[in-house]
Amino acid sequence: MVKLAIDLGSSMTKIYRADTNSGIVLAEPSCVAVVGEDAEIKAVGKEAKNLIGKTAEYTSIVYPVYEGEIVDMRLAVAMLKEFLSRIGMKSSMLRRAQVLINVPCGITERNLLAYENLTEECGLKKVYFVEQPYLSALGAGVALSDSDPIFCLDVGGGVSNAAVVSADGLIAGISMNVGGNNMDANIISRIASHNKLLIGALTAERIKNEIGSLAQGALGTMVAEGSSTETCQPSSTSVQAADLTECIRVYINKVLEYAKAVVKNLPAEVAATVNRNGVFLSGGIMKIPYVPQYIGAQLNMRFRVCEEPQFATVLGGGVLLRDKELLLRFAKNTSN
Ligand SMILES: Nc1ncnc2c1ncn2[C@@H]1O[C@H](COP(=O)(O)OP(=O)(O)OP(=O)(O)O)[C@@H](O)[C@H]1O
Ligand SMILES: [Mg+2]
Repeated sequence: MVKLAIDLGSSMTKIYRADTNSGIVLAEPSCVAVVGEDAEIKAVGKEAKNLIGKTAEYTSIVYPVYEGEIVDMRLAVAMLKEFLSRIGMKSSMLRRAQVLINVPCGITERNLLAYENLTEECGLKKVYFVEQPYLSALGAGVALSDSDPIFCLDVGGGVSNAAVVSADGLIAGISMNVGGNNMDANIISRIASHNKLLIGALTAERIKNEIGSLAQGALGTMVAEGSSTETCQPSSTSVQAADLTECIRVYINKVLEYAKAVVKNLPAEVAATVNRNGVFLSGGIMKIPYVPQYIGAQLNMRFRVCEEPQFATVLGGGVLLRDKELLLRFAKNTSN
């Protein structure tokens, strides 16, 4: 039987196949390009992202699952169906497949119902929804037990999750709509005001990922291209890593505020274990140099970063699909 872990991330959809040794079988931008008044679908995933900022007015790029919510059901269904077909899934296989999908920590009943509708529309019959923090712990290679709570912090494109989990359940946790997209938007406004250059979202993301750093005295320079805010003519400017530090740090500080609140009122023994184990860090933002070190220092805790932090959630989904007992314990469907 086909077993799939699906991470419908705000930035990237990742799919892991757990019944074979295929591992991660798909990683594509979670977006759809639509055209005209009827929002007819023109492209999905990579092809759609490539069109950002490059098309005529009547084409727009939509991220149908954004900040952990399904914001456009029709496009979310079309996107997921297309991704499933790209990994060779036929409808007969999907009907029988066992599927795990991660949802934000503390998801509302209404939002969960929307996820259930989405998967039903895609022809999936057996779907388990699991709150993200369990998965980042498992994806980090931690064997969850009842007696050893784990503190996880995931910072993605649109959502961050901070939680203390054990095999017994969620001890404390929160999800917040803060992530890399906020940093990209911040970079756009900084370059517009300091360098008088309007850059696109793709350029901002590339700059952040290529030279962004929280290192003190970060070096690195990149040429950014866009249009002059003064003359509206095509133009370029040189961006220094040090200019970006603050754009990134502001949002890491926001995440830290929440993360500190999560560990503030823990039962004493749990606090002791968390202190001993440190914090497990995941999400694509951990790829930015010195973000993990900064978080560890601010929390005054040891930290461990998952090897491929942007894949920790979906890898954890793969681990859970192989442990039926734990899967049933963590699954959070509206009928449970
Ligand atoms: N090397 C990298 N690879 C992928 N993403 C990166 C990298 N470096 C930085 N990032 C940033 O990490 C973010 C994406 O992280 P991730 O894939 O964990 O998010 P997501 O799961 O799609 O979204 P969310 O969990 O917030 O719904 C983006 O802001 C992206 O620009
Ligand atoms: Mg994510």
